[in-house]
Parts: sequence; C-alpha cells; structure tokens
Amino acid sequence: MEKTFIMIKPDGIERRLMGEIIGRIEKKGFRITKAELKNPTRELVEDHYVEHKEKPFFEELVEYISGKTVMAMEVEGDNVIEVMRFMIGHRDPKLAIPGTIRGDFANKLTENIIHGSDSPTSAERELKLWFNH
Ligand code: TYD
Ligand code: MG
Repeated sequence: MEKTFIMIKPDGIERRLMGEIIGRIEKKGFRITKAELKNPTRELVEDHYVEHKEKPFFEELVEYISGKTVMAMEVEGDNVIEVMRFMIGHRDPKLAIPGTIRGDFANKLTENIIHGSDSPTSAERELKLWFNH
C-alpha cells in the first residue's frame, strides 16, 4: 500500500485545524499509520526542504517551522501521494480552490497549513527523515 508523509505546519496547529485535517484524511478513506507532535530542529527542517535551499524564500520558510510544534504523519492508501496533493491544494493562495485544505483555510504563501510529499521518491525520503531517527 502506498504511503506518504504529511505534516500539519505550525499555523495549522496554532489555528486548531488538526482535527479538521485529520477528519478529512480519514473520511477520504486513508489510514493514519503514524502521527507524532514534534518540534523539529533547524537541521531537520533544512534537510526536509533541501530542494529549495537556493531559493530566496528558504530562510523565511525554515525559520517559520524550526522549533515550532508540527504534526508529522505517515498516511497510507491507494494513490495516497497524488490524492493528498489534490486535497491539500495549490501553494499559491490565489490558485488554491475552495474544497481543498489550502483553498478553505490558507491565504498566505509561507504559512499554508500543511505539507504533503510530491512523489514516491519524496515520500520515501521524507518518511525516513522524520520517523527513522
Ligand atoms: P513548494 O514545494 O513549491 O510547494 P508545496 O508545499 O505545495 O510542495 O514550496 C514549499 C513551501 O515553500 C511552500 O509550501 C511554501 C513555501 N514557499 C514560500 O514561502 N514562498 C515561495 O515563493 C514558494 C514558491 C514557496
Ligand atoms: Mg513541495
């Protein structure tokens, strides 16, 4: 069964959206097989977002997540990687369609509630990074 890495970001936790998001994941028929509240180190967040290391927003992004409370999850189901990306919605708040998590709750680019792996390679890498150490 396919697995993906989902993280509820600090603004999602602070805005008490954890239950809403977990509800959507479960109602879709996916299974949450791991869930842990974590306060990731800067090192872990930098590694998580390593693909964006050279981007101008990298510092702000890492700063926003490091040391804050996030919910790290492993979620399992058929086509879960692609379907969760649809349920999460577009990163640009102007393009995030209502009905998606970002479309319903986020109106900022950096503080956008939730992360989901974008491919099988990313899912495997991110699950290892967050749960295997
Ligand atoms: P990205 O991987 O492009 O989006 P997604 O989260 O949908 O996979 O970017 C990672 C995160 O970086 C994104 O969730 C929000 C943040 N970000 C910014 O803060 N500013 C930006 O200009 C971009 C492109 C992303
Ligand atoms: Mg991404």
